[in-house]
Amino acid sequence: MNPKIIASKFTELFDKEAIVVKSPGRINLIGEHTDYNEGFVLPAAIDKEIVIAVAKNDSRECHLFSYDFQESLSFDLDDFERMQGGWGNYVMGVVAQLQQAGYELEGFDLVFGGDVPVGAGLSSSAAVENGVCLALSELFGLNLERMDMLKFAQKAEHEFAGVQCGIMDQFASMMGKDNHAIRLDCRSLEYSYFPIDLGDYQIILCDTQVKHSLADSAYNDRRRECQEGVEAVQKHHAEVNSLRDVSLDMLDEAKEDMSELVYTRSKYVIEENERLLKGCELLEKGDIKGFGQQMYGSHDGLSKMYEVSCKELDFLAGFSKSSKSVAGARMMGGGFGGCTINLVEKSEKEVFEKEIATAYQEAFGKELKIYEVNVTDGTRVVANA
Ligand code: GLA
Repeated sequence: MNPKIIASKFTELFDKEAIVVKSPGRINLIGEHTDYNEGFVLPAAIDKEIVIAVAKNDSRECHLFSYDFQESLSFDLDDFERMQGGWGNYVMGVVAQLQQAGYELEGFDLVFGGDVPVGAGLSSSAAVENGVCLALSELFGLNLERMDMLKFAQKAEHEFAGVQCGIMDQFASMMGKDNHAIRLDCRSLEYSYFPIDLGDYQIILCDTQVKHSLADSAYNDRRRECQEGVEAVQKHHAEVNSLRDVSLDMLDEAKEDMSELVYTRSKYVIEENERLLKGCELLEKGDIKGFGQQMYGSHDGLSKMYEVSCKELDFLAGFSKSSKSVAGARMMGGGFGGCTINLVEKSEKEVFEKEIATAYQEAFGKELKIYEVNVTDGTRVVANA
């Protein structure tokens, strides 16, 4: 997204100069639904971004304009509450966090828009929350640390958007680095940058263009089920805090103390952490095909054990698995729609893209959107927008 489009819309609407911030969406190579279980993830920021332009307006009012929805919204800094859904929550949620943390804000005007597809599992909401946080930090000279900003953004999602998300999306969008994935330990928040060197392969996302309406409540249900798993294991091992601390043997020991469903969910999480660790070793050795096998394993687990896939995602992952030019594929993000991530041989990508789009159209009567993405830096200020 060209930042100039948002900057000039801002000037048209508010007739003044703005601070402009860019904030990326994210992919995740492997490690799904592990973040809120204190496990590992391997995400990266991508060149699908939200741009935010903001300036003070010498009042206590905030005037917002969403370029993509062509809608405006205003709220009073001293009197606002969470809305019943809608994009305003991503801005108000961050404002509420900053105020709760004791930062003094003043009224502002804000325009935002971008090319992170909404509902595609690429974390457009985290991109907006992070971007708003950095924009306000710059505007009011708050000098916030990146680690604090991404935590405010996550809490905004919990309290205003109503999704009990883990830390992965906000972390990846805020801390992204050009051509690197982030190997993040979601327990300690220790992280290291991992060069994305895929040799003859490149990342291609296939967007089902579906988002099932139960996605948010099902997400919160999964969190609860994992917590139940932890509580059952704690009867045998009091020291356990999260599924991260649980081995398959420990889980089996406590099998009688939990439902079959909770057992299967917990087993998926433990196995997914193992797949990630193994996958990182394989990537380090340049074994892309080996890594791809871990991705297929991840998809299988997400679909059959964690039950967060859907028929469209299963179809796409299955199609990729039967294509010789694909090293690995899986559904990505929270699930129930959104994208698959595929590692496709560069020399074969046109053929692959054509074939998978045709097959999807035939199976579901829907267009498949395909994104070729590059890995970029995280949320940042744009000079000279
Ligand atoms: C969503 C959440 C993340 C993470 C993924 C699943 O994107 O926001 O915190 O849990 O789902 O890995």
